[in-house]
Amino acid sequence: MDGKVVVITGANSGIGKETAVALAAMGATTVLACRNLEKAGKAATEVKERAASDAVSVVELDLADLASVRAAAATIQETWGRVDVLVNNAGGIWTKRQTTAQGFEQTFGVNHLGHFYLTDLLLDTLIASAPARVVNVSSAAHRLAVRGMPWDDLQHERRYSGMVVYSETKLANVLFTRGLARRLDPSAVTANAVHPGPVRSGFGMDGDAHGLIALGNRLIRPFEVTPQAGADTVIFLAFDASLTGRTGGYWANRGESRMSHSARNDEAVERLWTESERLLAGVGFPATR
Ligand SMILES: NC(=O)c1ccc[n+]([C@@H]2O[C@H](COP(=O)([O-])OP(=O)(O)OC[C@H]3O[C@@H](n4cnc5c(N)ncnc54)[C@H](OP(=O)(O)O)[C@@H]3O)[C@@H](O)[C@H]2O)c1
Repeated sequence: MDGKVVVITGANSGIGKETAVALAAMGATTVLACRNLEKAGKAATEVKERAASDAVSVVELDLADLASVRAAAATIQETWGRVDVLVNNAGGIWTKRQTTAQGFEQTFGVNHLGHFYLTDLLLDTLIASAPARVVNVSSAAHRLAVRGMPWDDLQHERRYSGMVVYSETKLANVLFTRGLARRLDPSAVTANAVHPGPVRSGFGMDGDAHGLIALGNRLIRPFEVTPQAGADTVIFLAFDASLTGRTGGYWANRGESRMSHSARNDEAVERLWTESERLLAGVGFPATR
């Protein structure tokens, strides 16, 4: 990974941080794109030590604010001028409905729309850095969105359940991955989605999730794998030479896995793309491509 620039969102903890350690140790210039600069600074110190690398930096990125996403993309372009691997990893689950700076429901806004916009803004840079890769951290929870995306209430203004909304955004991660793969020449940029497995990370443990979601999280904790193990397929997708040109897949345990019926829906792939562009344009942050 010498000479390559890797950008990882939500890299101050869990799967993102372990991905950063591994890729930095392989020689990549590693950018931790995080919303909390204090936490990110501590994580960068840890990543540098564990990876024995000085080429680790922090860029401020709050996916719940499209202005922050735009500023982060500009900083990345100005500072490094290339992106070889973009790992869209940050994500959350919220028991109570909250909204982003632009008024979108937060789970959709952070887990999908913020990453959709970040990727759009970095796409020219990725193409110019070809062969480049986008890795979207989804989840097996995407299977729980059995009825697909809630097109008639995408912002869950009428009805909200943290787990349902989370599963829909993880479905959105797979649909977005497929949309990207359809639009990009795989010899230039590939896009793949990944299920990291159930991981004993900070996920759902920081007070954002309470009630049943928090209880469920605590109960499965003894059966979850370490963040290092959870990051394994994410890292594999970011660097492994055997994957050159492989695009549009959903991966788990270093193998291509079958995505849900809803994720295989081509119409949903295109509709999510169009809706995402429409939503971005509607709040003054139009997609650039
Ligand atoms: N853990 C699991 O069992 C599991 C299973 C399947 C999929 N996943 C997926 O794996 C990914 C990483 O999760 P994890 O398990 O490593 O959990 P984690 O330790 O909680 O990490 C989540 C990261 O997302 C960041 N984040 C949240 N909201 C953000 C925002 N508005 N802007 C920028 N960053 C934001 C968090 O930052 P702060 O520290 O500032 O909150 C944190 O760095 C998620 O996409 C999740 O859906 C996890």
